Amino acid sequence: MTAHVEPGANQAFYRTSRLNGYDLVTVQAANRLLWRCPPERLVEHYNRHVSGRHLDIGPGTGHYLDRCRFPLSQPTITLLDLNPDPLVFAAKRIARYNPATVQADLLEDLPSIPQAPFDSIGINYVLHCLPEPPAGKQEVFARLKPLLNPGGVVFGSTVVTGGAPTTLLSSAFNALYQRMGAFHNQTDTVDMLHDALDAHFASHAVEIRGSVALFTARRPLP
Ligand SMILES: C[S@@+](CC[C@H](N)C(=O)[O-])C[C@H]1O[C@@H](n2cnc3c(N)ncnc32)[C@H](O)[C@@H]1O
Repeated sequence: MTAHVEPGANQAFYRTSRLNGYDLVTVQAANRLLWRCPPERLVEHYNRHVSGRHLDIGPGTGHYLDRCRFPLSQPTITLLDLNPDPLVFAAKRIARYNPATVQADLLEDLPSIPQAPFDSIGINYVLHCLPEPPAGKQEVFARLKPLLNPGGVVFGSTVVTGGAPTTLLSSAFNALYQRMGAFHNQTDTVDMLHDALDAHFASHAVEIRGSVALFTARRPLP
């Protein structure tokens, strides 16, 4: 399924040529050396919260979907991404689950998704890439909420620039990625994340690991 998506600067970062090196550079090296949240911790986050009816936002290379344990042998998985290349890349990688794909921009109204509602929605390392929407990044959770079953969970993680420890190296690379336009997390803080989740869910949790905030949210508010 493809919604109307205007090509933008964000698309250039997620071409197949870059995705080929993404697991080595970002999933392994940057997670360990810069953000200090090893990929094993993120796989564990998926293992704890992923369901047999899952929507993954911004799947990238599909690393975590490939490595995590689903509670069913044949889960229903939908991938949603602004960019076509990650959809193709991740769908191929987890072809054993026969995922559906939706090309759509999280910063716009989302198209209706035939597989919705979902029991879990994963949004890993996406918030820090998003330019600040007019109503703040909580807009994203407002858009995801209607796609979630009342008993479901939204989970993910994001690199924040306030409220979590930084190092000289992490601050330098964060600033570089901001200048390149790959990161838009200048005002992303742990408090901002709490407020955004609190605005849309009756219960949520945030854990800090290095410069990364791992979160879960349940019981969507009307
Ligand atoms: C940093 S990658 C994260 C990939 C993967 N989830 C991970 O944790 O390794 C960000 C992903 O979000 C997607 N993305 C960026 N902006 C988006 C938007 N506005 N709407 C939907 N997806 C977006 C990118 O195409 C890419 O797949």
